[in-house]
Amino acid sequence: MVGVDVDEEKVAALNRGKPPFFEPHLEEMLVLARPNLSFTTRYEEAIPQAQVVFIAVGTPSSPDGGPDLTQVKQAAEGIGRSLGEEFTVVVNKSTVPVGSGNYVEALVRRAFQEVHGGEPDGRLAVASNPEFLREGQAFHDSFYPDRVVVGAEDRRAIEVLRELYEPILEQSFTPPPFLPRPERMGAVPFLTTDLASAELIKYGANAFLALKISFINELARLADRVGADIREVARGIGLDHRIGPRFLQAGLGWGESCFPKDTAALLAMGREYGLSLPILEAAREVNFGQRDLIADKLLAELKTLKGKTIALLGLAFKPHTDDLRESPALALADLLLKRGAFVRAHDPVALPRVRREVALPLEYAETPEEALRRADAVVLSTDWPEYRTWPWERLRGLLRVPLVVDGRNFLDGKALAAMGYRYVGVGIPALGILSKAEV
Ligand code: UDX
Repeated sequence: MVGVDVDEEKVAALNRGKPPFFEPHLEEMLVLARPNLSFTTRYEEAIPQAQVVFIAVGTPSSPDGGPDLTQVKQAAEGIGRSLGEEFTVVVNKSTVPVGSGNYVEALVRRAFQEVHGGEPDGRLAVASNPEFLREGQAFHDSFYPDRVVVGAEDRRAIEVLRELYEPILEQSFTPPPFLPRPERMGAVPFLTTDLASAELIKYGANAFLALKISFINELARLADRVGADIREVARGIGLDHRIGPRFLQAGLGWGESCFPKDTAALLAMGREYGLSLPILEAAREVNFGQRDLIADKLLAELKTLKGKTIALLGLAFKPHTDDLRESPALALADLLLKRGAFVRAHDPVALPRVRREVALPLEYAETPEEALRRADAVVLSTDWPEYRTWPWERLRGLLRVPLVVDGRNFLDGKALAAMGYRYVGVGIPALGILSKAEV
């Protein structure tokens, strides 16, 4: 297997076994795969002998909300120029708008023609094979997926991909030591569709998950008003098999490029066809409003944010990654800074990346003590497991105001209240009280 990237530094680092970003087990996996895996910047080293070529480039949002397909175009052209003599399936793994399979096929054909003159007839097929993995669980989701979806018009393409995926579909591979097979893991469904349906499945799945979270966040706002506990409500709702318990965790809302980007892309697709998608519009509005909600909760407790120092725990968009794209934590930091607060940020993994990539005037803390010393409040913005095991009892004395606003309903509020903290979550009853002297 050969990986191609245009970034020479990235390729050199990968060839030395160094991943360009943080993902659990990635480094170990690079060691395991080493005998069968190399990286290059040159298409001509990878494409001619390949039976399957995956396009897995970025498709960031362009200003109109639709995805920017520049990298897809460059990859398709690079593939077309180097296409070999044998039958090759070009697979779109990048999330692309419906119709992109045809676009990729046209680009590959045109690039092939430019170099070779004739048509690549009979030796080219295009398929869509959407990606459903979660960052931070990428290997688990790849090895033990809920389903594999392949969209293609060409039967041979489907057969080639079925064969490629067989060890995963049949679960016949030996799991790597760090990734044991889950109990009760059975055969994986292989769903074959036309190209357009596969492309829409990817968007549909992400949009549905995004709106499930927005729904619970909307309900959490009501829970705050009526004095209910959204965690109990979510449990009660999620026990209904038709709904299911996952993705019902209220809090700061969703980030990273996928949910924001894919919901924006669906809206852009709708506009292209003169169709409004009001449920998706609302899901986005609720989601981005969650950041204001947390800032307002802080304001209600502290009476003013001007000049206050807020310890912000977690900057990555979710735990087990250093991905900062559309991070709700960074959006909240921006809001707090705009409202006159100082923000002292902590993250167990993402700080080096934040220092390099984020322009916000944040203060940085490497340790729990540095983060909390003389702060006027703690806001938990990313549910990194280590925050649960911080020595909260001991740390309390460092804070100017022992206030914890838990933007992920993640910490043990009862235990914190027993230690003398005021604990405020999202859609859950607040615990503990601050004395007049403390605020
Ligand atoms: C998502 C999809 O889950 C995955 O199938 C797709 O391939 C890529 O996009 P990812 O963005 O890596 O994966 O993370 P995910 O675990 O889905 O979380 C997305 C965001 O939603 C995070 O910011 C997370 O904190 C938030 N979230 C998740 C909630 O706010 N509540 C929840 O109940 C679940």
